[in-house]
Order: sequence, then structure tokens, then C-alpha cells
Amino acid sequence: MIEINAVSKTYNRAKTKALDAISLTVPDGCIFGFLGPNGAGKTTTLKLITGSLQADEGTVLVNGHSTISDDLKAKHAIGFVPDNPELFSRLKGIEYLNFIADVYDLGKGARYAAIERYTTIFEIADVLNAKIASYSRGMKQKLIIAGSLLPDPQNWLLDEPMVGLDPHAAFKLKELMRERANAGKCVFFSTHVMEVAERVCDKLAIINKGKILFTGSLDELRELKGKDTSLENLFLELVDDKEQVS
Ligand SMILES: Nc1ncnc2c1ncn2[C@@H]1O[C@H](COP(=O)(O)OP(=O)(O)OP(=O)(O)O)[C@@H](O)[C@H]1O
Ligand SMILES: [Mg+2]
Repeated sequence: MIEINAVSKTYNRAKTKALDAISLTVPDGCIFGFLGPNGAGKTTTLKLITGSLQADEGTVLVNGHSTISDDLKAKHAIGFVPDNPELFSRLKGIEYLNFIADVYDLGKGARYAAIERYTTIFEIADVLNAKIASYSRGMKQKLIIAGSLLPDPQNWLLDEPMVGLDPHAAFKLKELMRERANAGKCVFFSTHVMEVAERVCDKLAIINKGKILFTGSLDELRELKGKDTSLENLFLELVDDKEQVS
């Protein structure tokens, strides 16, 4: 579970806040989608949860551990798929996976079973001895997704994970998200793809200009707006309303 309490963040020399006092709870046992236009603050929020950025104000707790005062425990409870898969290009795929497994202190048995499972699912088992530099973007994305799952993290965070994946891999990813949510884990992912969010998510948060506009289920959003329409229409209307107010 992830708890974000009144978090604000301004990047160096920026005039506006990237995040403006956002609060959000991402519970266990569901697939939680994080939606918002470009520049809304999705990646910033995810980086604050992973501890690669620090908030100016407010607190972030991962399984109850502060990302500041208890950062190692918080990080241990996270598997993260960043938006950009350009990492460690000089390593071989298998070296990258072993490196991740070392970071999380995985024993031999758990490591080999997990590597075999996820590299088979994503059909990259036969390229693990090649350098990552030789992989296509989608192959790098699959490797990072596999790596993020090796420690069987309680909290799985993914930033635009469908980008670059072929339909087969995207389907497998959605299956894994559902499997983990059903097993009581927390799955939190950002996306621009409204059709995916509509089909996959149990709950959503919509962010725009560093402020959370809505948190709840799609049905709750429909009820709020008084319309039985697609998530895409509701999203565009919600973001548009706020543009006109501000
Ligand atoms: N490293 C940075 N330095 C300065 N400003 C930044 C930096 N990263 C993000 N920002 C600013 O913070 C705000 C939020 O950006 P963020 O990357 O979190 O948005 P996002 O919702 O992930 O967008 P996208 O959908 O395009 O990925 C934007 O105004 C952006 O310009
Ligand atoms: Mg982003």
C-alpha cells in the first residue's frame, strides 16, 4: 500500500509546482490507474514513491515505511518500471537480471525460478546472453518489466508500461497485473491510453497541473459527472473543466 500525504514538489527554478499538495492512497489488491495529460505530474509522483526524488513538503509511505527516514525498507517493497527503458546497455540481459536480484538479496532458488518464469512469459529467454545495447526498445522494456518482478514486490509501480510493447506482450502484462492484484498486491501504473485504463483498472486517479482532480472507480466518475459515457470522454471533460476554471 502507498500513502501520499499532502506532497508538494517544485523543480529547481520552475515557476509552478510540479505537484501541489497531492494526497492519494493506493490500496493493496487492486489495479490502480494514474491518468493525466503530458506534464501533469505522473512521473514526478512515481519518482517520489521510489525515492529517486524527494518531496519539498508532505510524506510518502510505502507499506507504512517513510521513503525518507526508512527508505531502504520502502524501496525493498517496490518493483519499478520507469518510462524510459534506456538502462545499462553494456550489460547482458542475464547480468542485468542478476544485478537486480543481488540488489534485492534474492537467493539462488527464488532468483532462477523468477528469471525463468518472467523471461519465458515475455519471450526474451533466448536473448539473455546478448548485450542490452543490441535489444529493440520493446525487448528492453520487457527485460525491465521482468527485472521489476524478480523480488515479487508488494508494490508494483509502472510508468507508461504499454509504450513500445507488442499486443502479445501488452496482453501478458495486463494478465500479470490482474494476477498480482488478485493476490493482494498493489499495482499502480500511469497511462495515457484510456481504453486500457477503462478495461484494466479497478480504481483511478486523474491528475492535472500537479493537482488530483478525481480518485475512485470508473462508475464513481460516471456518477459524479452524471454521464454513462467512455472514460476518454469523462477524462477530457474533467481536464477541460479545470482548464477553464483556472
Ligand atoms: N527534471 C525536471 N526538471 C524541471 N522540471 C521538470 C523535470 N521533470 C518534470 N518537470 C516538470 O514537472 C511537471 C510534471 O512533469 P512529469 O514528468 O511529472 O509529468 P507527466 O505527467 O509524467 O507527463 P508525461 O505524460 O508527459 O509523461 C512538468 O511541468 C514538467 O515540465
Ligand atoms: Mg511521465
